[in-house]
Amino acid sequence: MTVRHFLRDDDLSPSQQLAVLDLADELKKDPLGRKPLAGPKSVAVLFEKNSTRTRLSFEVGIAQLGGQPIIVDGRMMQLGREETIEDTSRVLSRYVHAVVWRTFAQKRIEAMASVSAVPVVNALTDEFHPCQVLADLQTVRERKGKLAGLTLTYLGDGANNMAHSLMLGGVTAGLHIRLVTPEGFSPNDSFVVDAKKRAAETEGSVTILTDPYEAVDGADVLATDTWTSMGQENDGRDRVTPFRRLQINSALLERAAPGAIVLHCLPAHRGWEVTDEVLDGPASAVWDEAENRLHAQKALLTWLLEQA
Ligand code: CP
Ligand code: NVA
Repeated sequence: MTVRHFLRDDDLSPSQQLAVLDLADELKKDPLGRKPLAGPKSVAVLFEKNSTRTRLSFEVGIAQLGGQPIIVDGRMMQLGREETIEDTSRVLSRYVHAVVWRTFAQKRIEAMASVSAVPVVNALTDEFHPCQVLADLQTVRERKGKLAGLTLTYLGDGANNMAHSLMLGGVTAGLHIRLVTPEGFSPNDSFVVDAKKRAAETEGSVTILTDPYEAVDGADVLATDTWTSMGQENDGRDRVTPFRRLQINSALLERAAPGAIVLHCLPAHRGWEVTDEVLDGPASAVWDEAENRLHAQKALLTWLLEQA
């Protein structure tokens, strides 16, 4: 039996993604109803970058599933002293039933998964943030009653993890994804190709635009993210001036569909990519979105462990 991993959003087929989202809704209603980690079985949750939501929601969620979370600062592991990722992975497989990892390049988590005997879950890489997008989809479906056919506009850095994951995870759910990004901050071409292929199966779509007002016109969901992702703080690029016109503020929100909601994976940089007025206003779904990390990740772990 091959082990199932969740390294990027399109690792789940449309029907598998739907099964995970349905399970997430079930677990939200009955948080202690399933115990796939009873024993307790252990899950290693490793961080090479900062985290509030991901760390807390995995720790709480693994405990609620009957398991033991082992949270490790990856910077303190031997991994930080030249032990290879593959050797680390071989050892982890002898101790735990799943590995959750927040790291830098996607190729690092691919290396971890390549020799792992247990499921490996991406808790954010430079390229993808797929656990976040499961929670985002759960939130949109709660608010709108459906996913397929809705339009989600993402405004911001198109080359970052959230843009890529919203694109791939969104079209998997049959959403129409519009991205509006400054010049030089476009999504990775090969991920756009992958998303368009997936969109052809689900009747979703991917459109890349330059005018924010055109991009939000009639959209059901607006989403944004920081203009400076973790690890980019000193990359020497101007991450403010070309982004200013993409701020989600009341004037932009007014151009979206009536009842449109706003998503942000958080942490938010208030007054930069989103205004206080929008983040604290009636369209904001960000606190439910943060809560849903817990339910969506529990569902994902339950589903992955059932496949083994
Ligand atoms: N959205 C998100 O992943 O938050 P943290 O960085 O706090 O985990
Ligand atoms: N794009 C952001 C997401 C934080 C949850 C980052 O990578 O820092």
